[in-house]
Amino acid sequence: MYKYKVSILGTGFIGLCSAVCFADKDIKVIASTHNEKKAAQINDGIAPFYEKGLQEIMDRLKKTKLNIFECVTDPLKAILETDISMITQGTPMRKDKSIDLSFIESTAKEIGEALKKKEHYHLVVVRSTVVPGTTRGLVAKIITDVSGKKPGEDYGLCMQPEFLAEGRSIEDTLHPDRIVIGQFDEKSGSMLQEFYEYFYGVHLKNCPILRMNLESAELVKYGNNCLLSTKISFANEFANLAQLVPNVDVVEVMKGVGLDYRINPRFLGAGVGFGGSCFHKDVNAIKAWSKSKGYTSRLLEAVLEINDDQAIKIVDLAEELVGNLKGKKISLLGLAFKPGTDDMREAASIRVIDELIRRGVKNIIGYDPKANHTAKKELGDKIKYAQSIEEVLNGSECALLITEWDIFKDLTPSNFKKFMKTPNLVDGRRIYDFKDFSRSISFRAIGRKNF
Ligand code: UGA
Repeated sequence: MYKYKVSILGTGFIGLCSAVCFADKDIKVIASTHNEKKAAQINDGIAPFYEKGLQEIMDRLKKTKLNIFECVTDPLKAILETDISMITQGTPMRKDKSIDLSFIESTAKEIGEALKKKEHYHLVVVRSTVVPGTTRGLVAKIITDVSGKKPGEDYGLCMQPEFLAEGRSIEDTLHPDRIVIGQFDEKSGSMLQEFYEYFYGVHLKNCPILRMNLESAELVKYGNNCLLSTKISFANEFANLAQLVPNVDVVEVMKGVGLDYRINPRFLGAGVGFGGSCFHKDVNAIKAWSKSKGYTSRLLEAVLEINDDQAIKIVDLAEELVGNLKGKKISLLGLAFKPGTDDMREAASIRVIDELIRRGVKNIIGYDPKANHTAKKELGDKIKYAQSIEEVLNGSECALLITEWDIFKDLTPSNFKKFMKTPNLVDGRRIYDFKDFSRSISFRAIGRKNF
């Protein structure tokens, strides 16, 4: 009845967003998670996390396409009842900052168990971010050891890296700029390409499909995230250079640089630095992987160091305004790693708070329109949490803009004057008009200095 039946092993951002998008285009999908509560919630049609557009598709599936999508807690059932299995498990960072492949390992074992019982050819696709060699050396090895089946004969094997950004996962799934297929052999790659040709139909017209070997595809993903992180650290390096010269503005400089058609202006936004679950994790993972192979990446080392230092730079700017920060009340506008999410993983706010505490600041208050509850889990009572802009600024002696939420963009100098004890503001994301704010309140911004 269905042309394709796909199992999605892992129900995080990548897994669930792909699952619902596939099902919405008449592909039978069985997702699998070991979390019973999460599975029940998904089967009730409720998205277990916020992602723009996700709930709407889940509502539509529930109303009009009953049975096309289900979530189970038994991965073997999911694999046995489908023809293609996609591994979408997380690959977190270990304490030593190398990659943790334990979820990939256990999922490969489950696939092996299922394939042992299966008579037909099955395609396995790794979509998690994994260091080069993992798909062939770990996933295929485990599947083969457990099932006795051979890749390229009894089952197909691909690695397809994912380029979804949080907050845009659905949009990015539906409109990719390219599809990268790492293939064990020609048959595996062709089967996955045909699947995507079916899923995207005419929308695939302007989207190149790149076929390569498994290891190259694994490295493409790291190339992407490392280059984006490098662009940000490059902009931050130039923010620090700009601050050495009176009235040079890094925003204008990066605009001038980015309009070169060979470069492009995206991800050249200077500020308090990148956060999130991917950039730190992936840059660290590939750095640790290359070191284990005997090569030290000085470039990636610098990218991470520059990024971490931006937290110190913003606190330096606050000290330029206020003097010694010890004993002062400091406000943070925004805590999440970027706007549009409540995700606090590796957020710049965490590094800024640690730096403030290191300099003896005890009275820190933060406000985030979406992430107060996740920030509380991450930061506990290191800071106080305000429920509004007015409350976070009330009686404060210096405010630091950390996350560029729209509601903060609407603030004017008079808002800061009205609520704060002394209106000192540091713009860590360059959202305020420099001239306007400098005229009205004590103001500093990353990447620009008035002398
Ligand atoms: C990132 C990539 O953009 C995705 O392509 C990739 O698939 C994903 O990681 C992943 O590996 O799963 P994400 O971490 O969701 O996506 O968020 P981004 O929008 O890329 O932002 C990351 C961080 O960079 C944020 O903290 C943001 O504030 C910061 N950033 C971004 C800057 O500091 N300056 C910029 O110019 C752009």
